[in-house]
Amino acid sequence: LPDSPTAWSARLTVPAAAALSFEAVFAGLTDVVSLYEVEETADGVSLTWCVEGLFAAAPPRAEIAARAALAAGAAGIPEPPLAFERVPAKDWLTASVAAFPPLAAGRFYIHGDHVPGPYPAGKLHLRVNAATAFGSGEHASTYGCLLALDRLARRAAVRRGLARAGTPAALDMGCGSGILALAMAKAWRRPVLAADIDPEAVRVAHANARANGVAALVRPVLSDGIGDAALRRGAPYAVIAANILARPLRAMSRGLAGLLAPGGALILAGLLQRQEAMVLTAYRAQGLWLHARILRRPWAILVLRRAAFDRTAALP
Ligand SMILES: C[S@@+](CC[C@H](N)C(=O)[O-])C[C@H]1O[C@@H](n2cnc3c(N)ncnc32)[C@H](O)[C@@H]1O
Repeated sequence: LPDSPTAWSARLTVPAAAALSFEAVFAGLTDVVSLYEVEETADGVSLTWCVEGLFAAAPPRAEIAARAALAAGAAGIPEPPLAFERVPAKDWLTASVAAFPPLAAGRFYIHGDHVPGPYPAGKLHLRVNAATAFGSGEHASTYGCLLALDRLARRAAVRRGLARAGTPAALDMGCGSGILALAMAKAWRRPVLAADIDPEAVRVAHANARANGVAALVRPVLSDGIGDAALRRGAPYAVIAANILARPLRAMSRGLAGLLAPGGALILAGLLQRQEAMVLTAYRAQGLWLHARILRRPWAILVLRRAAFDRTAALP
């Protein structure tokens, strides 16, 4: 739970018919988003809805405003009023902890502290609480990434690549709670670098690495994309997971592809099915090819690979 007695709320007031298209404004920024009616006609027809995100720390105002403007443009309506205010922290995070049931994703079993053991044998346990950083497994794109990691873990070529790679061997870009870094560290027992632009995510990822007994394997760092030198020093990585959003993923295509080892695998998530082509085109231009695709509607999770040897390097 946040130390401060207050939380932050960011509220968009939108026409009822457009409310759903504004939910994505908070995707990846907070797990706690609610939609509710604020105004109706005398005969009960919905007029105005509120789409509200709750944050344990000051929310990224400029990013929320920019995303809201994009959503308004896409819905063909004027930019909606956006209000930020401090609210009593109350029980919203506790409520979301209680609402988070344990989850199985392939070889991984994800549970919060509120779930009493014993936990299923033969699974890799990830202990992650709903908290101030995104990623407790229940979001479809995180879940899809865990399934993709589970499938990659079955492939001998991937295991060989990880064994050959330097230290760290894998990268979790946009780590949030660190859930994917924990999964990689537990599946492969190889060092993983976990990067996030949000200092709170880096703090939570540290705490989760300790709570899961993999602090020696998972190293969280603060980085905007591949900006921090630690990311480039650690390259190339045999596996990279990046669950962010379609546009930042597209913008990072050159940087991320450049960090991937020959024969390496790159998991991309946080994109909607209709954004797949946009993201894929950018990564194909970097020489990667589509290896697998997991759909958790409306989300798509892509697994891309790089050829095991660089043909251009072999040319005279
Ligand atoms: C959707 S969450 C994913 C969290 C976790 N990896 C999971 O799979 O559940 C996206 C994360 O990416 C981070 N992020 C967004 N833009 C970023 C950037 N440019 N560089 C690094 N991290 C970024 C956010 O702070 C957030 O923690």
